[in-house]
Amino acid sequence: MTTRIIATGAYVPEQVITNDDIAKVVDTSDEWIAKRTGIKERRISSGENTSMLAVKTARQLLERAGVEAETLDLIIVASITADYATPATSCIVQKEIGATNAVAFDVSAACSGFMFALSIADKYIRAGMYNNAVVIGAETLSKYIDWSDRSTCVLFGDGAGGAYIEKSETDGIIKEEIGTKGEIYDILTAGYTASTGAFNNYNTDHLWYVNMNGREVFKFATKSVVKSVERVLSDAGVSVDSLKYVVPHQANTRIVEIISHKLGIPYEKFYINMDKYGNTSSASIPIALNELNEKGLLKRGDKILLTGFGGGMTWGTMLISW
Ligand code: ACO
Repeated sequence: MTTRIIATGAYVPEQVITNDDIAKVVDTSDEWIAKRTGIKERRISSGENTSMLAVKTARQLLERAGVEAETLDLIIVASITADYATPATSCIVQKEIGATNAVAFDVSAACSGFMFALSIADKYIRAGMYNNAVVIGAETLSKYIDWSDRSTCVLFGDGAGGAYIEKSETDGIIKEEIGTKGEIYDILTAGYTASTGAFNNYNTDHLWYVNMNGREVFKFATKSVVKSVERVLSDAGVSVDSLKYVVPHQANTRIVEIISHKLGIPYEKFYINMDKYGNTSSASIPIALNELNEKGLLKRGDKILLTGFGGGMTWGTMLISW
């Protein structure tokens, strides 16, 4: 028995912010951003919080799968930009879609979040505890961006994407792994909240924003993803030639180029849409997967590889028979 993706969905805010728009607020240029990252524009929410993006994605998933909300067993939202510390964003989704019989919780693994959430949902389904699940990556990273820091503000965007999954006797998830390297957690942080109060007076406001050692993240990404993909393919006994598409975390085209080269997988097999959305963290892989699916490029039985890395530091890779 395995778990199969039955439907994909995504929602991005309407407001488009181009590289030229960003060049009006910090000292940068379309040329610098496009050359170093591959990003041309991104969506930035104007008023819609993370739960709203997640709810729109969840509704689309149920509609596309032809499933009634009451029959849903599990909702997992991966996010590092939840509306609240409590409740979990998934609980808001549960209420808004009317999934009264589901259990809902969130997962925090930054840009690898969707991979972690899908991995967890897969285990519940394989164990026979649940029959189906909605798994969503949703982020409004714009909340954590210091719009005066050109080294980070050009990279990120807001959005949500997800999958409706069910137990399957045939095609589905073949092999997967998730991993963490907490030793280097501090090379990428965001949203620090200090234990302050009436009797303390620390100022940690600057730690609210995305703080990143770009070069170290770059090194981590190119190493961890390559090793993870090699392990998953070798465990599955599947060669790189049999892959139809690789859907990578959409952080940076230069990272994808290096991964493609090291793994010997042609760059054309990597599905890229970061030019339009930037890095949407946990939403990036499901938004890209949904775009591939909407274009009708996925055929039943195709071997698809999802792979990402993120804050934590974390990574996750999944081989799927579509
Ligand atoms: N516009 C113009 N110049 C810039 C900009 C900008 N937006 N940002 C930085 N620079 C300048 C720097 O100030 C520096 O100038 P200097 O040489 O005069 O000091 C120069 O460009 C080079 O800066 P670096 O930081 O060394 O640039 P680098 O080539 O490393 O590229 C980048 C930076 C694109 C961030 C790269 O390191 C990278 O892609 N890292 C990975 C980041 C990533 O993927 N993060 C997402 C993590 S996933 C998650 O969980 C959120």
